[in-house]
Amino acid sequence: MSKTIHVNGFSMAYTDEGAGQPLLFVHGYPLNRRLWAPQALALSGQYRVLAVDLRGHGESDPVPGPYNMDLLADDLNAFLDALHIDQPVVLCGLSMGGYVAFAFWRRYAARLCGLILTATRAAADSDEARRARDAAIETARTRGVSAIVEGMLPKMLAPLSYEQRPELVQQVRQILLATSLEGVLGDLAALRDRVDSTATLSQINVPVMIVHGREDQIIPLKEAEGMAAQLRRAELQVLSNAGHLPNLENTPVFNQAVRQFVTDLNSDPETME
Ligand code: MLT
Repeated sequence: MSKTIHVNGFSMAYTDEGAGQPLLFVHGYPLNRRLWAPQALALSGQYRVLAVDLRGHGESDPVPGPYNMDLLADDLNAFLDALHIDQPVVLCGLSMGGYVAFAFWRRYAARLCGLILTATRAAADSDEARRARDAAIETARTRGVSAIVEGMLPKMLAPLSYEQRPELVQQVRQILLATSLEGVLGDLAALRDRVDSTATLSQINVPVMIVHGREDQIIPLKEAEGMAAQLRRAELQVLSNAGHLPNLENTPVFNQAVRQFVTDLNSDPETME
């Protein structure tokens, strides 16, 4: 059964399983927390696995926009408050979830003991990308969420996953289709208008793991390599047989990387009190 909690004026659906070091998983656009089901299953034996549906997504309320990354970070902060989680968390954000993670770092750094940046980038949208967001807003308004979903689906996975794993394709389609029109429109404007987080990279002083699918067609691997070069304490894990959703496409390697990261974090003298 889905858990919900009232934060910042809306009902937020979430997963909260296991005990120990809290890991907070944040999905991308236009996804929801079901993206992290394999992580909840595998990691909740060792850790407290938290995953939220951002406003407008999955089973959270279809809150109308405007959204921005700071607002979404504020929602996460209110969520942690509501659950009385004072212990620093490891925040794992995928794609737009990574953009939210940068905003969260700028606003609530003391709440974090580690960051996992998955399939994301620090840079803002180019002019061309901003025009594509406007076109997508028009598509969503005139043809609905399903038109957005069918346009994005082939790019979400590595070409081989898309061709040879029909159940996975169907699973991702169902996740994408659970996003409300309000959520899609809110996200697209937030994505288009987000600030460049490149300068934030050099300020992050907790350990960071970057995880990227070698065949990511939405955010090329070179973006992850560029971030790794600018972070003070970062490791880069490049997952083969994976595109934009490496945690779903190569689950065992992704989960093992998370386990190793958290183990190293807990034995890191700089992060121990
Ligand atoms: C996402 O997966 O969150 C989006 O594709 C990110 C983006 O379009 O920049």
